[in-house]
Amino acid sequence: MKIISNPEELRSEISNMRLSGKTIGFVPTMGALHDGHKSLVAKSVGENDFNVVSIFVNPTQFNNAEDLKKYPRTLERDAEMLEKIGCNLIFAPQPDDIYSKDEMNQRFEFDFGGLDEVMEGAFRPGHFNGVVQIVSKLFKLVEPDKAYFGEKDFQQLAIIHRMVRIMNMKVEIVDCPIVREQSGLAMSSRNERLTDEQRKYAAEISKVLFESRNFAPELTPGQVTDEVISKINATTGLCVEYYQIVNDTTLLPVETWSEPAVGCIAVFCGEVRLIDNIRYTMPR
Ligand code: PAF
Repeated sequence: MKIISNPEELRSEISNMRLSGKTIGFVPTMGALHDGHKSLVAKSVGENDFNVVSIFVNPTQFNNAEDLKKYPRTLERDAEMLEKIGCNLIFAPQPDDIYSKDEMNQRFEFDFGGLDEVMEGAFRPGHFNGVVQIVSKLFKLVEPDKAYFGEKDFQQLAIIHRMVRIMNMKVEIVDCPIVREQSGLAMSSRNERLTDEQRKYAAEISKVLFESRNFAPELTPGQVTDEVISKINATTGLCVEYYQIVNDTTLLPVETWSEPAVGCIAVFCGEVRLIDNIRYTMPR
C-alpha cells in the first residue's frame, strides 16, 4: 500500500491503473478511521480492482476554527487499519497540496437547489460549499468508478448525489448504512473526544430515535419531533441543536407520513457535536 501526498503522483498512479484496465473504488475521509469507515473500504475492496482512500481534514468545510484544530489526526493508525483491509493507496495531502490561497479564502460557489438551507447547512454556514469543493476536486484526481459514502451524513449524501447529477460526473455513488457501536451510538471520529461518562449519555440519542419509530404511527411528524427533542434534552449532558423530519430527497420538512421521511438530528454532548438519523417507514 502506497501513501501519497502529491496530487501529480496520484494522477500518475491512477493513470497506470486505468491503462492496465483496473476499476477504481474510492472512499474519501478525514481520517481518525473507525469501523464505519472500515465498512466503506471493505465494500469498495469487494467491488473494485484498485482501492483508494483519501485522508484529508478539509479546512474549507469547517466553520469553527476550534473544531478544525481539535479534529483527531491519526494517520499512522489509519494506515495500519487500511493496509489490513486491502486498501491499495492512501492519498493524504496537506492543504497547500490541494488549495491555492484564493481557494482557501473564498467560498466555493455551487447551486445546491436549496439542499443546503436546512439542518447542517443552516447551522454550519458554508460547510457544504467546502464539502462539494473538496469532493469534486478529489473526484477529478481519482476518477473513481465508484465512491462510497456513509448514510450517517444524510444531508451530505443528498448533496453529493446532486453534485454528481448536475456536474454530469460518471462516478457511481454507493450509499452505505450507518455503523453503530454496541450501545447504538452512531460511529463517528468525534466519538473519540467523548469521556466514558459522555459516551453513556450519547447512547440515548439513538435509543430515543429508535423508540420514536414505535410511537410515530400515533403522532404527526411535528409531534414526533417535539417528543424526540424533549426526551433527548431530558438526558444529562445532551442538548439538541435541531431535530427535523424531512423528505429523503428534497430534505424539506414533512407534514404527514405520506412521504418517505428521515429524521435528522444534531446534538451537543458537552462540546462535542454529534449527528445521527433514522428512517420512518409507515404503511401507506
Ligand atoms: O464525510 C466526510 O468525512 C467529509 O465530509 C468528506 C466527504 C471526506 C469531505 O471532506
